[in-house]
Amino acid sequence: MSSSNPLRDPADRRLPRIAGPSGLVIFGVTGDLSRKKLMPAVYDLANRGLLPPGFSLVGFARRDWEHEDFAQVVHDAVKEHSRTPFREEVWQQLIQGMRFVQGTFDDDDAFERLRGTIEELDKAQGTGGNFAFYLSVPPKSFPVVIQQLKKHGLADQTNGSWRRAVIEKPFGHDLKSAEELNAIVHEVFGSDQVFRIDHYLGKETVQNILALRFANTMFEPIWNRSYVDHIQITMAEDIGIGGRAGYYDGIGAARDVIQNHLLQLLALTAMEEPASFDADALAAEKTKVLGAVRLPKDLGRDTVRGQYAAGWQGGAKAVGYLEEDGIDPKSKTDTYAAIKVGIDNRRWAGVPFYLRTGKRLGRRVTEIAVVFQRAPHSPFDTTATEELGSNAIVIRVQPDEGVTVRFGSKVPGTSMEIRDVSMDFAYGESFTESSPEAYERLILDVLLGDANLFPRTEEVELSWKILDPIEEYWDEHGTPAQYPAGTWGPVEADDMLERDGRSWRRP
Ligand code: BG6
Repeated sequence: MSSSNPLRDPADRRLPRIAGPSGLVIFGVTGDLSRKKLMPAVYDLANRGLLPPGFSLVGFARRDWEHEDFAQVVHDAVKEHSRTPFREEVWQQLIQGMRFVQGTFDDDDAFERLRGTIEELDKAQGTGGNFAFYLSVPPKSFPVVIQQLKKHGLADQTNGSWRRAVIEKPFGHDLKSAEELNAIVHEVFGSDQVFRIDHYLGKETVQNILALRFANTMFEPIWNRSYVDHIQITMAEDIGIGGRAGYYDGIGAARDVIQNHLLQLLALTAMEEPASFDADALAAEKTKVLGAVRLPKDLGRDTVRGQYAAGWQGGAKAVGYLEEDGIDPKSKTDTYAAIKVGIDNRRWAGVPFYLRTGKRLGRRVTEIAVVFQRAPHSPFDTTATEELGSNAIVIRVQPDEGVTVRFGSKVPGTSMEIRDVSMDFAYGESFTESSPEAYERLILDVLLGDANLFPRTEEVELSWKILDPIEEYWDEHGTPAQYPAGTWGPVEADDMLERDGRSWRRP
């Protein structure tokens, strides 16, 4: 048994994975992501004992802050958003390695100060020159930050130290811009130094797709075209765009969510078993399956984009997208997108994959439903099975994490009547261990240099290749269909499945 193959040797995986001497520099430290996710994740990792004692956190931003001001911002973010209880002794240790560097991205002096800060931390905190640079910045700023890191020698790995770049989504706007960005990044960093974030891969339930499929015997034999009728992948949100108009308008639901999260979920659901659980083997299988994705012939028939109109949500009135602050009142941006794709390989030939996502939908839920074909023959008369739907395995990614198996069962009584029932596995009931937040897991993996949960260049580019023709078609044809806030999307999306004799699940 090889210890480099943790799928086969789970004992390795049970050892606590603790980061070695290191630090994290966050660009865009005043942004929402940093405050709500990154800073709390760093604290939670420290609180769980998974960071080295001298761990250092450096903020880089334009604000005129002293180190103490930055520490206060981190403190407030941690108090508000951390998952683990606040412990003064953990905080006191963490604060020793906190620094702030003031400057803009084109400011050479600021990058020199950053270099000086890192050298000072290496001495004071024993970080050993090992630093990850987290680019939590608007996409247009990626190139300048990457080039500044190069220019000021910050990407250089000397005397056995490591330097890594963590890049937030969206990684480009289409295939062309993603390729250009990849070229810029790879001019400075080797592929083993680049970690592209898709935070869905950091979620426990998403990683569990691999456990469910490949650590068990009972699912995989039926996970194919012989038994599966179709697959539905849904990521629904009840929130609108909040304060993110500047980012969202012109990007839309398909670029924001389908290009990354949903196509990654599709890849994990549909890929073949990797030879091992290491990053290369996983990426190879994901890449193969993404490369086999086939778009529908008629994009007008098998894709739908929508935009929310005013409506009611959770008992309150919600404004329509075009009335949101900062949105162009003529905007054609999609806040809902549904697409049907096929996968051209032996396992999935003829099985449709329906992907949908949207804002201001009925409720927040992400799930993957594998819906099975009907039994080829039924010995029961048709009235007995009137209330029997299709069998399904539903991977509940969030919020009610777990897996549901749906099948028919006899209704108690003197006649033969069969109705759908569910068998549920819920994380909260089966495990006492708590799940780390996705960003905790991903930051730890960056510090450990473990790239399993990060999409590779090829995956990102293939995903744009899938999306580009759809976006082009939408640009040239009409406007998004309207749907009232608080509903399950435009009727056109229901029609799309109805034409195939199917319907969306109402999760
Ligand atoms: C982000 C999108 O990647 O994921 C957001 O940019 C979306 O628009 C968010 O709201 C949802 O993440 P989660 O983890 O809350 O499902």
